[in-house]
Amino acid sequence: MQSAEPLLQVTGLKVHFPIHAGLLGRQAGTVKAVDGVDFQVHAGETLGLVGESGCGKSTTGLAVLRMHALTDGQVRFNGEDISSPDRASLKRLRRTMQMIYQDPFGSLNPRMRVLDIVGEPLRVHRLTRGRAAYRKRVMELLERVGLKAEMAERYPHEFSGGQRQRIGIARALAADPKLLICDEPVSALDVSIQAQVINLLEDLQKELGLTYLFIAHDLAVVRHLCQRIVVMYLGRIVEVADRESLYRNPSHPYTRALLAAIPIADPDPEVQARFDPSLHGEVPSPINPPPGCPFHPRCPHAAPVCQQQRPRTMELAPGHTVACHLHDPEQAEAMARPQ
Ligand SMILES: Nc1ncnc2c1ncn2[C@@H]1O[C@H](COP(=O)(O)OP(=O)(O)O)[C@@H](O)[C@H]1O
Ligand SMILES: [Mg+2]
Repeated sequence: MQSAEPLLQVTGLKVHFPIHAGLLGRQAGTVKAVDGVDFQVHAGETLGLVGESGCGKSTTGLAVLRMHALTDGQVRFNGEDISSPDRASLKRLRRTMQMIYQDPFGSLNPRMRVLDIVGEPLRVHRLTRGRAAYRKRVMELLERVGLKAEMAERYPHEFSGGQRQRIGIARALAADPKLLICDEPVSALDVSIQAQVINLLEDLQKELGLTYLFIAHDLAVVRHLCQRIVVMYLGRIVEVADRESLYRNPSHPYTRALLAAIPIADPDPEVQARFDPSLHGEVPSPINPPPGCPFHPRCPHAAPVCQQQRPRTMELAPGHTVACHLHDPEQAEAMARPQ
């Protein structure tokens, strides 16, 4: 059962970055990295946030953690509006929400021992008293993520990619968070190691009652892990559904193309026929996003209306929404017109 208020509620979120040019640094444009995004994460669930590189996933995660200023919109966490927190609430937030980063090589300070990397949140938030308690807690955390307590004395370069990601997870757990934002935590790892880290995240979720916002660039990993999935394209959400509906009835042409790009264990030809051919080209620049539907330049179904009008978000079934003119009854005629 899900509680009435979601643990995390994001409404109308925009994160724009100014681009400066020339000697005087005049503002030459704006990167609309996140451009009006709404979603919720319920306590205890894993919500997948999926889209190709450059779609605004990391920016969304960093904005939720309040490591980016919000250009517009609201973030509520645990019943509290955290859109413009003061210093004290920001510090409290940094305890209850943690991020696991994509790059297990770049995200750990190479000059610090694992003891101090994992223990940093304990020091910042003054969570242990005295050196012995501190060491004991770090060692517990290392064991919890499948590492050995004596590894605390070593430096990051002495570990493999999978082990480093475990160190990053131990550090994220140190301050007893409620929400973990996992930003492509296995993308940089060997395939053989990916499953181990995913299993660890699943075990930790069960043991500690954690909630995950799990970011990925394809639909392969999230299929196994997430109860609900948000598909993002060029700073906007194009489809939201629970796992079953998304894989059985993918409705946005972008979702279908993402599905076509992954190996499917499901050979049902009827299901396969719903996937569009693989994606061509790249995500356009969020500095000059295409007008109308941002996906129209790459969409096999694009009609003239798609170049002109931004699609409304339609609810196809409870909890399954899609922003595409193909699913808008008011656009049925326009979409049927030959191009
Ligand atoms: N600090 C920043 N300043 C300017 N542009 C940024 C910044 N961070 C991200 N971007 C741009 O915003 C867009 C979305 O980036 P990002 O959120 O990292 O996407 P994703 O995580 O989906 O790959 C990209 O075009 C990226 O270049
Ligand atoms: Mg990213």
